Amino acid sequence: MRRDNVSADTELEYNLRFFTQFIINPARTGAILPSSDKLCEFMTDLAGLGDVSTVIELGSGTGVITEKIMRKKAGSTTFFALEINPAFVDATKRKCPDAVVYQSSAENVMKHLEMHGESGCDRVISSLPWSTFNGETQQLILDSIYDVLKPGGVFLTYAYVLGVVAPASWRFKKKLYAKFDKVETSKIVWSNIPPAFIYICEKASR
Ligand SMILES: C[S@@+](CC[C@H](N)C(=O)[O-])C[C@H]1O[C@@H](n2cnc3c(N)ncnc32)[C@H](O)[C@@H]1O
Repeated sequence: MRRDNVSADTELEYNLRFFTQFIINPARTGAILPSSDKLCEFMTDLAGLGDVSTVIELGSGTGVITEKIMRKKAGSTTFFALEINPAFVDATKRKCPDAVVYQSSAENVMKHLEMHGESGCDRVISSLPWSTFNGETQQLILDSIYDVLKPGGVFLTYAYVLGVVAPASWRFKKKLYAKFDKVETSKIVWSNIPPAFIYICEKASR
C-alpha cells in the first residue's frame, strides 16, 4: 500500500532493506517484512496519542509505526524511538526525518528518557521480537518498560497469532500478566503478514 510521503519504489526499497536484515539476523529482526499499514494504524489509534505528553517507541525497524506516531501525536509531545540495529536506525531517520531515533537497546529506555529531562512516560509502543528473547532478557526489558511508565501509563506490543503457541511466547505472556495491573488483547489484524493482535497493558494509577 502506498503511503502519503513515500513513493512506491521507496516502499519497495524499505521492504528489501527489512528483508535483508532478516536474512542477516532473523532472531533480532523478528519478521520478514515491516508491519502492514493496517496494523500500524490500528496500534497507534489504540494508543490514543492525541493528548499525551510523552511517547516512546521500541524497535522502530524501517519506521512504519514511527511514521504514524509522528502524524498522530501532538506537536508538544516528547517522542523518541530506540532501535538496536544501525541499518534500521538509518531507515527510520530516512522515513521520518523529524523523529529522534537512538541506536540503543530497549532496556536503556530510562536513561534516554532522562536525557529528555523527564522521569516518566505515558505510552510505550513496542514491536520488539519478544519470542526470540530468552526469559532473562524478556524480564529485563519488561521491568524497564514498567519502570519508565507513569502511573496510568500504557504499554502496547503486538504478537503474531500463530506464534502464541511457542514456549517463548507463552513465557512472555505469563510475564506480561504478572507484571502489569491490567492486560487486554485487541481484535486480530488478519491482513498483517503474519496475522497479529495487540496486548494493551496498563500500569495502575496511584
Ligand atoms: C518485528 S521488527 C518490527 C519493526 C517495525 N516496528 C515494524 O513494525 O515493522 C522488530 C524490531 O525490533 C528491533 N530490536 C530487536 N531487539 C531490540 C532491542 N533489544 N532493543 C531495541 N530494538 C530491538 C529489531 O532490530 C527490529 O527493528
